[in-house]
Amino acid sequence: MFKTRMTELFGIKHPIMLAGMNWITTPPLVSAVCNAGGLGILATAHCGPEEVRKLVKEVRELTDKPFGINQILIGPNAKDNIEAAIQEKVPVINYSLGKPWFIDQVHAYGGKVVGTIAIAKHGAKAQQLGCDALVVTGHEAAAHGDVATSLVLIPVVASQVKIPLIAAGGFYDGRGLAAALALGAEGISMGTRFTVTKESMAHDAYKQLVIGASEQDTLYSTAFDGMPGRVLKTKAASRMMKGGFPMIEAFKGAKEVKDYMGLSYGKFIAMSFQMLGQEEGHPLWVLARQAAGTRRHLMAIEKGDVDEGILFAGQNVGGIKDIPGVQEVIDRTIAEAEAVLDKIQKERA
Ligand SMILES: Cc1cc2nc3c(=O)[nH]c(=O)nc-3n(C[C@H](O)[C@H](O)[C@H](O)COP(=O)(O)O)c2cc1C
Repeated sequence: MFKTRMTELFGIKHPIMLAGMNWITTPPLVSAVCNAGGLGILATAHCGPEEVRKLVKEVRELTDKPFGINQILIGPNAKDNIEAAIQEKVPVINYSLGKPWFIDQVHAYGGKVVGTIAIAKHGAKAQQLGCDALVVTGHEAAAHGDVATSLVLIPVVASQVKIPLIAAGGFYDGRGLAAALALGAEGISMGTRFTVTKESMAHDAYKQLVIGASEQDTLYSTAFDGMPGRVLKTKAASRMMKGGFPMIEAFKGAKEVKDYMGLSYGKFIAMSFQMLGQEEGHPLWVLARQAAGTRRHLMAIEKGDVDEGILFAGQNVGGIKDIPGVQEVIDRTIAEAEAVLDKIQKERA
């Protein structure tokens, strides 16, 4: 058993978190992680506030343990989704990209706010704003890590902030958990590992590709959804890298976002210029590119089209070789971390 500042902060049994992943971290997977003693995170960025309320209710029907939502703070529904989560008194609000305006409101009902960062200076800023903990994402991670690896980033952030850190990017077993604790984190967050479990809705074609892959079989580029990100090295991903970012798909994506938001072209362009001034890049393009990437992501995850789709996956695919249940993943991660630390302790004596 590990009692860390992470387990104490959230009131959970094990220092293990399910990373928020749009479409993948659905109520069954979230609740399975919570019921096994970890912290399940429901991704909400792909839906609107009514859907957030519905999903939160579903999680509560499946578990009475603490859980969280993950929301990107730019984009059409960010404000409304956060508001819905606050009204529902969701225990943990995990955000990425953007400035959290809601920390006091969450603290008022006893909730916790967790920022996700991939650059050390953003960690210091999040602490200053009042965040309770940070998810620190290294380069090894599936999807959007930055350039620093977990081995470097975690201790750098740990020496700059006092709030608890949750290490993400490259973790899939107990050796990783023990290493994360040694580097200054209070626990780990896993994405790829939990995507390849019995309870995950990801298509079996995705799961089989992951368990057959080596640590060499991912690609990191802006070609997939416009932001630097890591996917499985499939034929489609290699083609996209050669062809560069698919502008036509991005324009189609931008139009979809505009229509979805019910905006005229004039208003959409005005909003884009307003957003360009913000710290976190160029949201018009982020949205359009994400829409393009999302289409291909869904092709792979839902339909199993691994030829045309893109599949977010971390370098840890090299070590993920089976499709266990969530409870087994968590139990063996804890047992293995304990064994590793015992072995090190004995070797010291
Ligand atoms: C299939 C898949 C889909 C993901 N989708 C999202 C997403 O929608 N939003 C997001 O912020 N991160 C997403 N991620 C990244 C995870 O939140 C997390 O940062 C990452 O998986 C951690 O690294 P790991 O895969 O090495 O554990 C996704 C990861 C995977 C494997």
